[in-house]
Amino acid sequence: MLSSIFLVALLAPSVLAQSTVVDAYVSTESPIAKASMLANIGSSGSKSSGALSGIVIASPSTVNPDYLYTWTRDSALTFQTIIEQFTLGIDTTLRGEIDNYVGAQAIVQRISNPSGDITTGGLGEPKFYVNETAFTGSWGRPQRDGPALRSTALITWANYLLSEGNMTYVTNTLWPIIETDLNYVASDWNQSTYDLWEEVYSSSFFTTAVQHRSLRQGTTLAQALGDISLASNYETQADHLLCFLQSYWNSAGYMTANTGGGRSGIDSNSVLASIHTFDLTAGCDAITFQPCSDIALLNLFTYVNAFRNIYEINSGIPANEAVLTGRYPEDVYMGGNPWYLTTLAVAEQLYDSLIVWNSQGSLDVTNISLPFFKLFESSIAVGTYSSSSNEFRTLTTAVKTFSDGFVALVAKYTPPSGGLAEQISKNNGAPVSAVDLTWSYASVLTAFDARGGVVPASWGAQGLSLTCAGSPASQTVSVTFNVDVTTTEGQNVYLTGSADALKDWSTDNAILLSSANYPTWSGKSEFTPKSVPLYSLFAFFLVLVTVTVPGSTDVQYKYIQKDGSGTVTWESDPNMEITTPADGTYATNDTWR
Ligand SMILES: *[C@@H]1O[C@H](CO)[C@@H](O)[C@H](O)[C@H]1NC(C)=O
Ligand SMILES: *[C@@H]1O[C@H](CO)[C@@H](O)[C@H](O)[C@H]1NC(C)=O
Ligand SMILES: *[C@@H]1O[C@H](CO)[C@@H](O)[C@H](O)[C@H]1NC(C)=O
Ligand SMILES: *[C@@H]1O[C@H](CO)[C@@H](O)[C@H](O)[C@H]1NC(C)=O
Ligand SMILES: *[C@@H]1O[C@H](CO)[C@@H](O)[C@H](O)[C@H]1NC(C)=O
Repeated sequence: MLSSIFLVALLAPSVLAQSTVVDAYVSTESPIAKASMLANIGSSGSKSSGALSGIVIASPSTVNPDYLYTWTRDSALTFQTIIEQFTLGIDTTLRGEIDNYVGAQAIVQRISNPSGDITTGGLGEPKFYVNETAFTGSWGRPQRDGPALRSTALITWANYLLSEGNMTYVTNTLWPIIETDLNYVASDWNQSTYDLWEEVYSSSFFTTAVQHRSLRQGTTLAQALGDISLASNYETQADHLLCFLQSYWNSAGYMTANTGGGRSGIDSNSVLASIHTFDLTAGCDAITFQPCSDIALLNLFTYVNAFRNIYEINSGIPANEAVLTGRYPEDVYMGGNPWYLTTLAVAEQLYDSLIVWNSQGSLDVTNISLPFFKLFESSIAVGTYSSSSNEFRTLTTAVKTFSDGFVALVAKYTPPSGGLAEQISKNNGAPVSAVDLTWSYASVLTAFDARGGVVPASWGAQGLSLTCAGSPASQTVSVTFNVDVTTTEGQNVYLTGSADALKDWSTDNAILLSSANYPTWSGKSEFTPKSVPLYSLFAFFLVLVTVTVPGSTDVQYKYIQKDGSGTVTWESDPNMEITTPADGTYATNDTWR
């Protein structure tokens, strides 16, 4: 008590003023954010216009942009928040909402859609109409983080119900939904995905991180429910995912958000991954990218700094103070502005870090996190500082002030109604883009909870280590695609299909087959995560004989013909389909349809 009075007395008046502003904002905005979030959930939400029971709309905005859809990702993150508020005793009125969400997801999972049906990839569909029908327009699909986030939310719920002794509901109602999502994650994580911003088709750090978390939680739940072989498969795939997660690190000091996209890769994707995989029991573990890990702090430093000079509204703010941040610095969507939820995510990562440092009674400054800590104490050196040290007090006090600064900016640019849009004008701070964004409200609640020291349930990040030797890269499955086709002069036969290695249904990049055994056209594919394309010349044709996809995968494909002018002729429907074996070789003997 004495020491905290002493500390407060040492703080500059502006810092005290800021903390008062943030305290006031937390108390006024909390109920507004909660009510506004619930208003966007059907069927009783006052702004959920037409959404069925348990369906979360992204925003009531119907023009410029039209967000009156339900996204699997946004819904799961919203319900992760609601489920945590209920299970941690913060708000005991939310059980009915959770039951409705469960009911809705059992239906949404089964909607056939352009990504497929429940067994052929449809779980990767990013968004649906709010009346639980498929959206069939063109979109960035699939987005493979959805099933991972949904299963994580439902496992968090299931664990609570198990602790209440409610095994029946978990087994009969929750587990079938969860298992369906986890099986999808376990089998398809190693395929390309659109990122959480729905723009880049490659591998994405956020997606990999939340997929890893879902399979760790799934392993424990499958064990608890007695399905040992399923648990073992989830654990094996989680080990592979954890290895893959390490590969995104860029030695320039940040996590590369996406392996494709042609951008810097600096992106709130990584900050969001750290807060959505926070586990106090893992401490400041770096391999699971915990909020207070040295790489996550350096990543935050790099990410925040990327926005200091690109938004007019941030000009003149000193380098050790908070600024508004956006999705990624190259963003141009709706003008390319700061976002409420990304700015709040920075604060949340730091509040999570403070929880860990205070809980473990010490703080590590490593040669990786040094630039971050030097923001607050230019003379700080690499070392471990116990909570009784002056360095610990100085750094944690400064980090708290810094993180409150992000919330203070959000408070400054929240209109008097308390309503939160998607973005904040980079020029004048006015709300921009979709009004009442559900995810903005959820991010307010989780950031405030973290500020208040709320610790979410552990998901099993503690004590993990890397066992990367048995990665799927070591398994090679050779598949030869043979198709009998009578062709005319100048006509060539190509293969395209539903996997990276089969060029993801591209006709431009489809695989040219060899006519060495005409009329059988052939191409041989090595189904392994290590890509080793081999090219050879056959007559006048360049023949690609080796492509890569993982083993034990359902693959759909079709043959196409192209003439000299590039005109494409497809085979008739339906698609051909095979399941690649786990090892060995496989050959198709197809006839052109
Ligand atoms: C569902 O909503 C969409 C978009 O508003 C509409 O086009 C479609 O007709 C609706 N379907 C049903 C079955 O109500
Ligand atoms: C188990 O949980 C479900 C979902 O909330 C609830 O409907 C049911 O009444 C609970 N059963 C028991 C025995 O508490
Ligand atoms: C699949 O996993 C391998 C091994 O971790 C990795 O190198 C490759 O980039 C992954 N591909 C995708 C699309 O996830
Ligand atoms: C950082 O510290 C690690 C050991 O803690 C050491 O192996 C590494 O060489 C150091 N890197 C730099 C750039 O000093
Ligand atoms: C295709 O033919 C080869 C050679 O006759 C045979 O070994 C293989 O099993 C056949 N593949 C299928 C899927 O029937």
